[in-house]
Amino acid sequence: MTRGAFIVIEGLDRSGKSTQAAALLARLHAEGIPAALHKFPDRTTPIGQMIDAYLRSEAELDDRAVHLLFSANRWELAAQLNATLAAGTTVLCDRYAFSGAVFSTSKGLPAAWCRAPDAGLPAPDLTLFLDIAPEHARARGGYGAERYENEAMQARVRELFARMGESGDAGMWVTVDAGQAQDAVARDVWTAFEPFARGVEGKVGQLWP
Ligand code: TMP
Ligand code: MG
Repeated sequence: MTRGAFIVIEGLDRSGKSTQAAALLARLHAEGIPAALHKFPDRTTPIGQMIDAYLRSEAELDDRAVHLLFSANRWELAAQLNATLAAGTTVLCDRYAFSGAVFSTSKGLPAAWCRAPDAGLPAPDLTLFLDIAPEHARARGGYGAERYENEAMQARVRELFARMGESGDAGMWVTVDAGQAQDAVARDVWTAFEPFARGVEGKVGQLWP
């Protein structure tokens, strides 16, 4: 039975993830491929609202507590995500558990501890890492005022994302040069996605592979 493909888009803040995710969704719809887009953190749920307050520095939370909230924010959508894939709809996620692991690890939490709460979540078939130098990302329009949006943190995160891709723990991982013009990035994203355009055979995997 063919199911929808599960595609994750990861990258630094200001790497163009949301723009590329929206462009890919529009192209999928134009090609007649059923597709849905989710964004993590999903700030609309009660858990997401706590995360949002933390990111905007309106609330203080222990590093481990907020890490678990980010993970819980994925788990609260996991059953729906699996059902959507099973129904034949391709799912695009703007950030996922890889952001969860690398942002918290870059704050100094142990890597193994950071990965544990996401174990068992649906695993993507493909992760597109939109790679950009932090200084280039900042030059694009500046980081906002949210927590983590500073060059030192983003540089550590970039390094950890690269290691995540090389480790094999992330499954299929394609690095896209996000420093290119928007159209060129979209072209590379499409090239990587195309093998999944007709859906995927077999069950959805589980983190961590
Ligand atoms: P956003 O800018 O994509 O809305 O994400 C908000 C911030 O939260 C961003 O700096 C990345 C970070 N983040 C985590 O620290 N852990 C997570 O699990 C996720 C999904 C995001
Ligand atoms: Mg952001």
